[in-house]
Amino acid sequence: MELLQKKIIKEGIALSDTVLKVDNFLNHQIDPQLMNEIGKEFAARFKGEGITKIVTLESSGIAPAVMTGLVLDVPVIFARKKKSLTLTEGLITSQVYSYTKQETNDISIASKFLNDQDHVLIIDDFLANGQAALALVDIVEKTNASIAGIGIVIEKAFQDGGKFLSEKGCRVESLARIQSLANQTIEFVNWETS
Ligand code: G4P
Ligand code: NA
Ligand code: NA
Repeated sequence: MELLQKKIIKEGIALSDTVLKVDNFLNHQIDPQLMNEIGKEFAARFKGEGITKIVTLESSGIAPAVMTGLVLDVPVIFARKKKSLTLTEGLITSQVYSYTKQETNDISIASKFLNDQDHVLIIDDFLANGQAALALVDIVEKTNASIAGIGIVIEKAFQDGGKFLSEKGCRVESLARIQSLANQTIEFVNWETS
């Protein structure tokens, strides 16, 4: 997605060879116009798939997921990382392993929001090692809903997440795919600028 690539080049910072900082528009401050375009792009890519629900993970997945849900006119469910005061019954939980933190955390959704009639689009902001996306796939599968695919705003293609998800047979649509962050330089797999 050209608009997103240009934004990443303009405002993204390669913090290290593996970490891209995009808190100007995605991870802290949010650019609503860009999120709107991202929502339209995901919706276009999954149009005609019969999506009934979108599932994401708090917090940074919510903005792109909601904009996609607006266009597809379907509800958006975000998996929670912390136990909620009111959300205590009928929880479906899965574990996410973090390589950087070397710890495992639970994420959960309420089972009442998904059932075997649902066809789900999973959305997240980043795809790195794929642990969060795999946990979202696991949660959705536990509800017996089916999965249309996974929409990722920024994929770090030099990490293994994309490979793990395709090995599971998941369709992955990434709007920007980073080839390398070496030497403080952001390189895409395909530079789409016309
Ligand atoms: P890890 O196994 O590679 O350590 O990744 P992990 O899943 O633990 O991800 C930790 C957080 O960092 C996640 O956000 C993930 O989306 C994000 N992340 C992974 N790689 C990058 C990157 O290169 N740049 C940025 N900006 N984020 C990255 P989170 O903790 O769930 O935070 P949030 O959704 O509340 O923002
Ligand atoms: Na994040
Ligand atoms: Na995230």
